[in-house]
Amino acid sequence: MKGSILHLQLLIAAILVTLIARNESDGYRLRRSVLPSLYNLTINTQASRNGGLGYSFIGEVAITLQSNQSDIYEITLHKDSLDISSCLVYNKDGILSQNVTITSLKYDQETHLLTVPLLEALTANENYTLYFKYTGYVKSRGQGVISEFYKTDKYSYHSVYITQLEPVYARLVFPCFDEPTFKAKFQLNLGRPSEYNAVSNTRLIRTTKEGNNIYVDHFDVTPIMPTYQLAFVISEYQARGNHSEFAVLSAPENYNYTEFSFNVAERAIDAYNKVFDMPYKNLGNEVLLFATSGWFDDNAMDNWGLIILSEKILVQKPGYTDGHANTEFTCLNIAHEIAHMWFGNSVTLSWWSHYWLNEGFARFYEFFLTHQLYRNYHLDQQFVVDNLQRILEKDAVAGSLPLTSPEMSVQSPAEINNQSNAFTQDKGASIIRMWRNLMGGENFRESIRSYLKQYHLQNTSPTDLFAHLKQNWPAQPEVDLDTFFSDFTEQVGYPMVIVNITQDNQKIILHQKRFLYDYEDGSDATLRYTIPITFAMNLDRTYNNLTPYTYFDRNKTSIEISFEEPIDWIILNQKQSNYYRIFYDKPILTKIKQLFSTIKGHHIPVENKAQIIDDLFHFAKAGMIDYAEVFEFMEYLSTEIEHIPWRTAYVGMEQVVRRLTPQQLPHFEKYLKNISYVAFNEVTAKSSSTDSVFDVYNRNLFVSWLCKYQNVNCINQVNVLF
Ligand SMILES: *[C@@H]1O[C@H](CO)[C@@H](O)[C@H](O)[C@H]1NC(C)=O
Ligand SMILES: *[C@@H]1O[C@H](CO)[C@@H](O)[C@H](O)[C@H]1NC(C)=O
Ligand SMILES: *[C@@H]1O[C@H](CO)[C@@H](O)[C@H](O)[C@H]1NC(C)=O
Ligand SMILES: *[C@@H]1O[C@H](CO)[C@@H](O)[C@H](O)[C@H]1NC(C)=O
Ligand SMILES: *[C@@H]1O[C@H](CO)[C@@H](O)[C@H](O)[C@H]1NC(C)=O
Ligand SMILES: *[C@@H]1O[C@H](CO)[C@@H](O)[C@H](O)[C@H]1NC(C)=O
Ligand SMILES: *[C@@H]1O[C@H](CO)[C@@H](O)[C@H](O)[C@H]1NC(C)=O
Ligand SMILES: *[C@@H]1O[C@H](CO)[C@@H](O)[C@H](O)[C@H]1NC(C)=O
Ligand SMILES: *[C@@H]1O[C@H](CO)[C@@H](O)[C@H](O)[C@H]1NC(C)=O
Ligand SMILES: *[C@@H]1O[C@H](CO)[C@@H](O)[C@H](O)[C@H]1NC(C)=O
Ligand SMILES: [Zn+2]
Repeated sequence: MKGSILHLQLLIAAILVTLIARNESDGYRLRRSVLPSLYNLTINTQASRNGGLGYSFIGEVAITLQSNQSDIYEITLHKDSLDISSCLVYNKDGILSQNVTITSLKYDQETHLLTVPLLEALTANENYTLYFKYTGYVKSRGQGVISEFYKTDKYSYHSVYITQLEPVYARLVFPCFDEPTFKAKFQLNLGRPSEYNAVSNTRLIRTTKEGNNIYVDHFDVTPIMPTYQLAFVISEYQARGNHSEFAVLSAPENYNYTEFSFNVAERAIDAYNKVFDMPYKNLGNEVLLFATSGWFDDNAMDNWGLIILSEKILVQKPGYTDGHANTEFTCLNIAHEIAHMWFGNSVTLSWWSHYWLNEGFARFYEFFLTHQLYRNYHLDQQFVVDNLQRILEKDAVAGSLPLTSPEMSVQSPAEINNQSNAFTQDKGASIIRMWRNLMGGENFRESIRSYLKQYHLQNTSPTDLFAHLKQNWPAQPEVDLDTFFSDFTEQVGYPMVIVNITQDNQKIILHQKRFLYDYEDGSDATLRYTIPITFAMNLDRTYNNLTPYTYFDRNKTSIEISFEEPIDWIILNQKQSNYYRIFYDKPILTKIKQLFSTIKGHHIPVENKAQIIDDLFHFAKAGMIDYAEVFEFMEYLSTEIEHIPWRTAYVGMEQVVRRLTPQQLPHFEKYLKNISYVAFNEVTAKSSSTDSVFDVYNRNLFVSWLCKYQNVNCINQVNVLF
């Protein structure tokens, strides 16, 4: 899943949770004594009187389950907003053993737990079938079965049903064991009016006519999967491709505009098949469909075999361009959702408290798999500005969340929803990138392959992943890897490494301190971390070596690194690969600025230039340095033409410029004109067909900034153009 859905509902739910003082014994969780193995689910949607699809549906579900204990006198599972009209229990021979009176069902509104009392204990290790018939409700937004419309002209509206069951909304569609470890198979039978067609996670097996204008589509049995992966779409969509194998589905009017997304999806799936060394089809499902939805907005949902994405991702209308950003967006989102077929669907988190096992990996591959396929976007570099630097800002306040939360703190639906946040995605991906770079791409790939293989169709927690990383970690590091892993997954925040150089320029001394904007905001300022140390300096010209030179042991007060001769300059954390900020002693920073202003500085990775600018802005925001020092350092930009340092500079300036006084503004305008002179002339306001993606991004940045700040040069050029 991407983005977060329905903040309003979340807020309401959160308020409710706070209002209703929670009794600790009212658990939200299911016991694992009764396990489902198969859901045979029939959903009959109905045509509404005015022609579209209706607002309720009749459901029937037969759940095959068994208990491993012999003293089970009740079965507890989830439901939400379903009106049950019949509840029956069948024994292993298919004989009705109990017709459960509806009034004897126990239901708890807050936990969504439904308890079916049994007259006789279940016999251990024997299959029973628990059957429900019920009415469910279609929503116009949000979760469960959602009804939406699209217009083809002023007068024709077309109905579409889509589903959104992650994380806890399968219970809105059928009574079920709605937790990720209760994996089971599903067989869906979907009733729909004749003028519509239906798709689901798996292949359509056959269609039967069940009455006047009612057809039932029977889909193949799914692989074992969590409840939240079930999905269907009922629509008049047209498929590009073969809807029994691989297709993009959209309104027929958009068919001509799904070629780009179809090609992206095809390339991405081929690449994943190779990277994971486990082809998609071998995961257990041969179908992979991409369906559009008008509702999803920036979001998308990674149902196994039926990915649902917003229209602006799948549909690329000709003539429309916002300078590559829209195609980049399409590539990223498609790659993200496909990654979930492995990270989430085949191998599923065991609880929502470590949601990053799904989302961190999907975000990581979103950038780095796409980077393999479409190098023109330089997504490896953009990752640093868009993800890493953005999350470093959020991860330095009292509200910061750890990647892995204590399980007890993630229990209610509101708490589970809260896990869909920037930390699980952006921090998750940043930490995964750090591990990959430290252990090396090959070793990382091996560990991911063996992890995906071992846990195929199972559930995992972070320690399962760590075991595979450790097995493939090169040379035993001098620190404890488990400590290193937990420092950045179970602790919040990150360190700032303070770098001092001795008078003779032959030794650097490193200290660490958690970085916070406000040390009095209630955050734990005493946290320490195991910090991988990498660096480049003038004596050693390997600017891209991401293998750690050493680790800063969290137990040590400081560490020292000595050199055989005096050094001219040193830059730590190459490519901003690791998750921390660096506070350089003033003499070092001065030397770095000099270096960046010379031709030699061109060899320094752009990520490091961006990193230093970003760090300085945030040290100023934290009151550790004056903004004047940031602007002084950024004078080096007068010789910089690369996009990434400029992008970070503009992100930083954005926050500062808003607070400038009318007296300060003219000085800023002059400063901006001065430092951007070379870079702006490099791209000029006029576009050319040979422009790279970054030329275009640069131009957009410069034009909007320089014209805003009355730069005559820019305004003249833009005037000439238009
Ligand atoms: C689901 O139930 C229908 C109707 O009873 C039956 O025909 C079908 O075989 C069942 N599916 C599975 C996978 O058992
Ligand atoms: C039943 O299975 C659960 C989970 O697999 C396990 O924790 C429990 O100990 C088992 N109980 C018995 C009696 O085997
Ligand atoms: C279950 O009981 C209800 C109410 O008594 C009855 O209407 C229904 O027919 C029974 N169902 C079966 C399958 O016996
Ligand atoms: C119980 O049902 C499942 C799923 O239908 C089946 O795979 C399994 O073999 C059955 N177990 C027994 C003991 O009948
Ligand atoms: C679509 O895929 C199915 C399943 O692989 C295959 O049987 C069918 O022939 C394909 N249809 C077309 C038109 O290629
Ligand atoms: C799609 O393309 C075909 C073939 O080029 C054309 O005949 C058709 O009119 C187009 N449809 C739409 C909705 O633009
Ligand atoms: C969600 O997380 C935030 C911290 O980012 C916390 O303040 C809030 O209380 C959490 N809400 C729930 C319902 O857990
Ligand atoms: C660091 O200190 C902790 C607690 O004092 C101790 O358990 C741990 O073994 C130490 N680690 C190292 C690498 O010395
Ligand atoms: C290290 O550098 C920082 C930043 O310039 C400075 O505040 C601090 O006093 C220095 N520490 C030592 C021991 O020189
Ligand atoms: C920018 O300012 C520096 C220092 O004041 C000056 O030397 C340089 O000529 C200026 N460059 C431009 C393009 O105005
Ligand atoms: Zn996702």
